[in-house]
Amino acid sequence: LDNGLMRTPPMGWLAWERFRCDIDCKNDPKNCISENLFRDMADRLAEDGWKELGYVYINIDDCWSSMERDSQGRLQADPTRFPGGIPKLARYIHDRGLKLGIYGDLGTHTCGGYPGTTLDKIKVDAETFAEWGVDMLKLDGCYSNATEQEKGYPLMSAALNATGRPIGYSCSWPAYQGGLPPNVNYSLLGDICNLWRNYGDIEDSWASVLGIVDWFMTHQDILQPAAGPGKWNDPDMLVIGNFGLSVEQSRSQMALWAIMAAPLFMSTDLRTLSSEARAILQNKAVIGINQDPMGVQGGRLLKESSGIEVFWRPLSDSASTLVFFSRRTDMPYRYTTSLGKLNYTAGVYKVYDVFLQKTMPMLKDSTEFTVSVNPSGVVMWYLIPKAGVWEEGARYPDPR
Ligand code: GLA
Repeated sequence: LDNGLMRTPPMGWLAWERFRCDIDCKNDPKNCISENLFRDMADRLAEDGWKELGYVYINIDDCWSSMERDSQGRLQADPTRFPGGIPKLARYIHDRGLKLGIYGDLGTHTCGGYPGTTLDKIKVDAETFAEWGVDMLKLDGCYSNATEQEKGYPLMSAALNATGRPIGYSCSWPAYQGGLPPNVNYSLLGDICNLWRNYGDIEDSWASVLGIVDWFMTHQDILQPAAGPGKWNDPDMLVIGNFGLSVEQSRSQMALWAIMAAPLFMSTDLRTLSSEARAILQNKAVIGINQDPMGVQGGRLLKESSGIEVFWRPLSDSASTLVFFSRRTDMPYRYTTSLGKLNYTAGVYKVYDVFLQKTMPMLKDSTEFTVSVNPSGVVMWYLIPKAGVWEEGARYPDPR
């Protein structure tokens, strides 16, 4: 969507995977969906170095609203859990240099059973969000049919635009239509949405992450061309920092989300995050790769019978990234190849190991090398031809 927003994949924090529809503020005040939770997370983004790395969105998901619209038919926040209302929360977030995202659902109800946005309510809801100072809308698709979605998603795009407020627009439409043509029209999505959920919900498990990766890679020839500055495929939130992924698996999620040029929405408790999870989520090189300004989505290059898979993404300034990923479950695997075998032809390359955070020896495209890849882990490289520019402290490894 050409609204000037999200020219690189959006980054921030989204409540859903970790905090779900916990509305029990009486017994679980620290974790329930309430203005306190979003204020806490905004404090963390602003004070713990996240904002400077690009994590600027604080996004509310389902279960924020009252069970009824107000007397004028407008959505309203639950008065006990959001006593200050959304406008006050938006001010709090903006005062910290952050942006606020909200959740709506095209249909009679949200997936959690709260008031939805039927076609006749699209205009008033867009205006309400704009008035409140909202910066992003995730429009889910529970409780509507294909015909209503075909009307509603473009209508909301136009209604947001008509408010005059820049509002990033995340569409769950394709996820409700199987994610593939002919039911999904990716060129239309790119015109009306900044990002879109293609596939099912992520859960706090490695099986869930793998299932998503498999689906995106199986269909990469369809998905890759759909993405670009202002329009991104969304494989769903980062679950790094929760309970289901090992450190290796957490690095793998981060690396593969960077290959996919995916939005980076963390859904974790930033108040209690482990130092390992923080180091992965705050790794400047992997963020820089995710945020590459050229905005070309990468994909899987090779699937070896050994269980090693090689992923590749082209980056600006003739740079690129390679991810060696192991689906093995036995022990670190020594994988031997050469850059030439991976379609590299520019002679000598400078190589930086993203998770070791180390510059490697120069590598000729014809030279065989061996990487040791841990079970369900990755080795991730950033490469640039020696002939190209690689000033220390230039765009890489800290792109900002
Ligand atoms: C759907 C979406 C999730 C989340 C829930 C909320 O399942 O795909 O991301 O928003 O609804 O109920």
